[in-house]
Amino acid sequence: MAVERTLSILKPDAVGKNAIGQIIARIESAGLQVVAARMTHLTQGEAEGFYAVHSERPFFGDLVKFMISGPVMVMVLEGENAVATYRDVMGATDPKKATAGTIRADFADSIDENAAHGSDSLDNAKNEIAYFFRATEICPRTR
Ligand code: TYD
Repeated sequence: MAVERTLSILKPDAVGKNAIGQIIARIESAGLQVVAARMTHLTQGEAEGFYAVHSERPFFGDLVKFMISGPVMVMVLEGENAVATYRDVMGATDPKKATAGTIRADFADSIDENAAHGSDSLDNAKNEIAYFFRATEICPRTR
């Protein structure tokens, strides 16, 4: 296994439920470290750009509307196998199918308002991290 970085977004529903701390506790318990973090309220252009790969999907318009409906927390997570580890911590895209104890099982209400985003590959993680953070904003542990 290798040390990787992945992008996490705590979506407007999770932030609105005041669940930021509970979700970060699960991320840390899984052995991942928060090495960059920022609260932001995405613009329509930022949300459309981030989800551009889904622009032809029927849910795209609603997804963008949801992502700009309130503030989000964007984070870079670092750790062994971080991309897959965080996908496991998040659970399946559809919270009805997510394993008990995962973020989406416990904090998401539906497939379209599903609490968290996590990069789905190392290549996408690199691009998604660069979409939100400059290299100087990422602060790996020194102790
Ligand atoms: P996707 O990349 O398939 O899932 P994941 O976030 O688990 O990588 O889809 C991106 C987001 O699009 C998903 O988190 C929620 C939204 N979405 C819908 O609203 N409806 C859908 O039917 C799907 C598949 C996704």
